[in-house]
Amino acid sequence: MHHNQPKQQQSVVNSLLMRMFGRPKGLLGKLGGFILARTKGDFIRWVIYQLDVQPNDNVLEVGFGSGVSIERLATVVLTGQVAGVDYSKEMVEQAKARNGKAIAAGLVQLQSGSVEALPFADDTFDKALAINSLQVWSDAMVGLREMRRVIKVGGKIALGFTPQSGQPSTGLIDMLTSTGFIEARLIETEQGFCVLAIA
Ligand SMILES: C[S@@+](CC[C@H](N)C(=O)[O-])C[C@H]1O[C@@H](n2cnc3c(N)ncnc32)[C@H](O)[C@@H]1O
Repeated sequence: MHHNQPKQQQSVVNSLLMRMFGRPKGLLGKLGGFILARTKGDFIRWVIYQLDVQPNDNVLEVGFGSGVSIERLATVVLTGQVAGVDYSKEMVEQAKARNGKAIAAGLVQLQSGSVEALPFADDTFDKALAINSLQVWSDAMVGLREMRRVIKVGGKIALGFTPQSGQPSTGLIDMLTSTGFIEARLIETEQGFCVLAIA
């Protein structure tokens, strides 16, 4: 019995957790946001690792948001190129500010645009990814077909999702297969899941 926390202590712990992660508030909210960002950082690294990005790859990210994953890609790609397309002009500005040096060095190019009409020629990229993005595309099938078009034959796609996306894993493999990808498979980690396939 004496191992049980007193009721009052339990409710203090619960309210701290709620402030940090549930409804982030004040200083504790900021700390919670920092911890969540680190966990998300781990997830991004995991997806990039699964995609097997190489230093000489041309890589496309769709829906890069604030550009944290672009920043990570720019540390892996050395002689290739990192391109990004995001629907939101605000996100493009934020991600450009975050990746200023790599953009100035000619390694990274970010632009606003839609996955349903990608501004690239056929067979441009060795690897392509999207994290927590497909669930908000206006037409996921059209978007996947476009990604398939711009990835070289034999190139690879990774679609990563954390639980916050609300995206279920069921159906994604069928969607990849019916948009022309092969060898689609699902892998899971503590922070989310990823579907991988070959173009
Ligand atoms: C939930 S956010 C995820 C951002 C980032 N990848 C992350 O994991 O933090 C979804 C992103 O997809 C972008 N997006 C939504 N629809 C899109 C579309 N049709 N084409 C390209 N980007 C799109 C949004 O602007 C947004 O930045």
